[in-house]
Amino acid sequence: DIQKTFGIIKPDASHKKEDIFERIIDEGFTIIRHETMQLSRERAGEFYKEHEGKSFYEKLIEYMTSGPIVVMALCKHDAVKEWRKLMGPTNVDDARKNHPTSLRAIYGKNMTNNAVHGSDSLTSARRELKFFFPKLSVEPSLSNQ
Ligand code: CMP
Repeated sequence: DIQKTFGIIKPDASHKKEDIFERIIDEGFTIIRHETMQLSRERAGEFYKEHEGKSFYEKLIEYMTSGPIVVMALCKHDAVKEWRKLMGPTNVDDARKNHPTSLRAIYGKNMTNNAVHGSDSLTSARRELKFFFPKLSVEPSLSNQ
């Protein structure tokens, strides 16, 4: 089915926005919405609520608020799975070894600075799309609006 998913180009990769957009489009996605923004600590904390208390949480918030990010609404057949495949694994070493053409292999630096984010399920995609694009319809449809 045609799905919408949510992605972020993280601070360490946001200066590569144009190259990453080109790759995303090459891979058959439609970029329905995109916006470059600075995340506040408060918004970052709300977005990453599920990771609160984990060992990497502080580093994650610090990093995600360290510079501009690009938030994106993406559309494709099986978009959630396809976007995670294009991103590659969270661990950049693993990405470089086993998925060398993935975005994390190319643009990521390490486990924290791993270049991109993507929703891990359709449920997360809906929540995350609503969080950053409150006016966008998250219902599955062929419409790119
Ligand atoms: P992402 O999946 O986009 O959202 C959670 C982020 O936490 C993850 O990307 C990484 O950037 C970061 N992170 C740092 N260390 C870890 C870890 N050990 N396990 C999972 N995520 C981690």
